Amino acid sequence: MAFRNLSDIKPFGKKVWLSSPTMHGEELKYMTEAYETNWMSTVGKNINEIEAQIAEFVGVRYAVALSSGTASLHLATKLAAEKLYGQARPNEGTLRGHRVLCSDMTFDASINPVAYEDGEAVFIDTEYDTWNMDPEALEKAFELYPDAKLVVIAHLYGTPGKISEIKEICSRHGALIVEDAAESLGAKYLYEGEWRETGSFGDYNCISFNGNKIITGSSGGMFLTDSLEDADKVRKWSTQSREAAPWYQHEEIGYNYRMSNVIAGVVRGQLPYLEEHLAQKKAIYERYRDGLKGLPVQMNPVDEQRSMPNYWLSCLIIDKDAMARQVRDDHKALYIPETGKSCPTEILETLAKFNAEGRPIWKPMHAQPIYRSHAFITKYGNGRGTSNAYIDRGAAWDAGMDIFERGLCLPSDNKMTPEEQDVIIELIRNCFE
Ligand SMILES: Cc1ncc(COP(=O)(O)O)c(C=O)c1O
Repeated sequence: MAFRNLSDIKPFGKKVWLSSPTMHGEELKYMTEAYETNWMSTVGKNINEIEAQIAEFVGVRYAVALSSGTASLHLATKLAAEKLYGQARPNEGTLRGHRVLCSDMTFDASINPVAYEDGEAVFIDTEYDTWNMDPEALEKAFELYPDAKLVVIAHLYGTPGKISEIKEICSRHGALIVEDAAESLGAKYLYEGEWRETGSFGDYNCISFNGNKIITGSSGGMFLTDSLEDADKVRKWSTQSREAAPWYQHEEIGYNYRMSNVIAGVVRGQLPYLEEHLAQKKAIYERYRDGLKGLPVQMNPVDEQRSMPNYWLSCLIIDKDAMARQVRDDHKALYIPETGKSCPTEILETLAKFNAEGRPIWKPMHAQPIYRSHAFITKYGNGRGTSNAYIDRGAAWDAGMDIFERGLCLPSDNKMTPEEQDVIIELIRNCFE
């Protein structure tokens, strides 16, 4: 590939996005059908169709369409908590007084429901093989908190985590799993000799149709399960928990979390294109992997023996000795340019200057101001307070923060052309000049 200086490259006329909705036309047909048949509500054919299609695709018995992935995670977490600890009083969360072991490097929607339900999230460090929950750290957490009975796992950027190990550890400790497959619809994992879709591994499973996801409804999410009882409960809770009576009668707290039939029309129109989107995202990942060869960077890792990611976002991580110095506070970042080196801040600022959208790696939850007082467990045990002013033990172990410091998400929009992607690769190469 020809290599130009930054001064010879023009900014993109049309912004290249991180991951934006890709419409195909059929979405409008199903939305219009909802309008013309007057099913402008939270019941209708679009909802029934997508529930059936997604359940079949993921390989679960039941799917319940909800207003968001976050709503799905809330009800999944609440269901798990009720199963473990029983029904709470209406003014108390079902997790009051209980700890939940959670993926640390994820979007906060994965784990906020623990707080909605008055529980205490304990954050489990990340491993470098898939950038997901480290099973060794999870094992340590069960040693430290033997009473913990619930684990929330996410598959970051569409790459399945170490599901076999995590399921084995959870089953040994009698813990239930909430699986957050919001980013990983279409990603597969080889489990006990069989390739299975993410979103089918937890006791309670969730996906998202947020506008940036591999397929979208503009918003929306789903709860996935093999249990008819759980599916019925989520359907009931999501529609204000009405009891069988001629009037509004309530014995449980309700929510307005059901998906609209109009939104379901968008999802229905997207579903035939899921495989196409998966192929486009994979091609983007491979073009970056090939185009960035020779630079001191690695792509986000994939365990090819055991998983087929959906490649939702392509990311890179800069080798330690090629990192230019960079500091971040809670809101801003600064770096010192160095020949032959770069850092996420320099690359992201360069991409932005040329009208392309990258993003920092999701900042680990244990480092978020709101959760700084919560426990953080690494494979060595308690991850808090590990340095010593009097004895030099080297840097503290914190894989998640290390990936956050050195990594970034690349523009991964499936409408990005190969030519545009080549320019992005050139821009990144320039940062290391
Ligand atoms: C890992 C993860 N979990 C949960 C969510 C929440 O999904 P939603 O935006 O549909 O509420 C998202 C994204 O939005 C996500 O990336």
